[in-house]
Amino acid sequence: MSATIRALLLVLAMLSPAVAFAQQAQPAATPAAGATLPPDDRAPPALPREGESNAERGKSQPGNNAPFWRAVRESGNAAGYSSLPGVETGVLIQPFVQYPGSRLTTAGEAWREVRNRWIIPYGGALLLIMLGACALFYWRKGALGGHEPDTGRRIERFTPFERSAHWANAITFVILAVSGVVLAFGKFFLLPVIGGTLFGWLSYALKTAHNFAGPVFAVSLVIVFLTFVRDNLPRKGDLNWLLRFGGLLGEHEVPSHRFNAAEKMLFWGGVFLLGAVVVGSGLVLDKLIPGLLYTRPQMQVAHMVHAVATVLMITMFIGHIYIGTLGMKGAYGAMRTGYVDEGWAKEHHQWWYEDVKAGKIPAQRSRPVEGAAPPAAART
Ligand code: HEM
Repeated sequence: MSATIRALLLVLAMLSPAVAFAQQAQPAATPAAGATLPPDDRAPPALPREGESNAERGKSQPGNNAPFWRAVRESGNAAGYSSLPGVETGVLIQPFVQYPGSRLTTAGEAWREVRNRWIIPYGGALLLIMLGACALFYWRKGALGGHEPDTGRRIERFTPFERSAHWANAITFVILAVSGVVLAFGKFFLLPVIGGTLFGWLSYALKTAHNFAGPVFAVSLVIVFLTFVRDNLPRKGDLNWLLRFGGLLGEHEVPSHRFNAAEKMLFWGGVFLLGAVVVGSGLVLDKLIPGLLYTRPQMQVAHMVHAVATVLMITMFIGHIYIGTLGMKGAYGAMRTGYVDEGWAKEHHQWWYEDVKAGKIPAQRSRPVEGAAPPAAART
């Protein structure tokens, strides 16, 4: 029987109980429904097919039992023994599907191909491009800012609560990003260096860390959202700031309120939109949403959505972390200590500075800080 006819029969078998029955009636073509396919028995299932048997493959490539799985697949009946809990107990492999423009395949293989051929190479390339762009920018332009001299008078920019929320979020994000990157791309850059045993242990530890950090990140992300949403609402002047790229590359920055338009885009695109998708799909993968069935197709979709959204989110936050540390003079100090020099405030967020000085933002008045550093010619 040609492979095409056999494949067609398999699809029909999935669709129609009558055909399934007829196919089962063929001698040795299908293990009986619910039959246990012994996991350790390498004997070839009695299926007419080309190529090596399982026993032969076991000798030529010890440990490779691909013929066994091919036989399960070719049988068109995925029933057997599996330790998988839930609704898919006993389903060894997913049924065949025909996606538009694609060959007949299983959903599992389709997912694998999307992961290996699209998400991993393009996602990896995007992250490297972003890292390279930041490095290039730093090399050519150095740290931005420092045009307005320090005054020695400091303004509270972030309250202790705001900073705690931010750092809880940032620390869990870094744990998730590092562990996620190693799990997805580690076999290309770490495995060849540290070897299989160490990489296995490391992956296991990072996977566990990832699963625990995820829910903490989700909670802190909601707190960060609620904390900063008011000052990230669009305001007059944002469009002008964007169109002129904030004047960041010149001597004079375009005036902005507490957060500029780039920060607002990061907030709505990165924290709100991508954050919601990443957290939602992550909670599905962690099986933390009550009432879901958690089948393989659901997990595959959740995984693809999670991977694409996290790659985009990490790409955005590489930019944020760059500007928040190396890329802009005095920015990191704002989030570390909560205070900025008035010169910094005037240079980077002029309208916010004027509002604070005019007393329109009562929580954040200018006040000298005990032991404040004397005015410096240039900020670092
Ligand atoms: C190591 C990682 C990070 C560093 C070094 C960092 C640094 C900073 C700095 C310096 C600021 C102050 C900017 C200003 O004064 O205008 C800031 C603001 C902010 N950061 Fe981060 N950050 C990090 C990670 C994150 C993460 C993971 C998130 C959220 C997922 C986040 C969300 C925010 C938000 C919402 C603000 C307020 C400005 C805005 O709304 O855009 N940060 N960060």
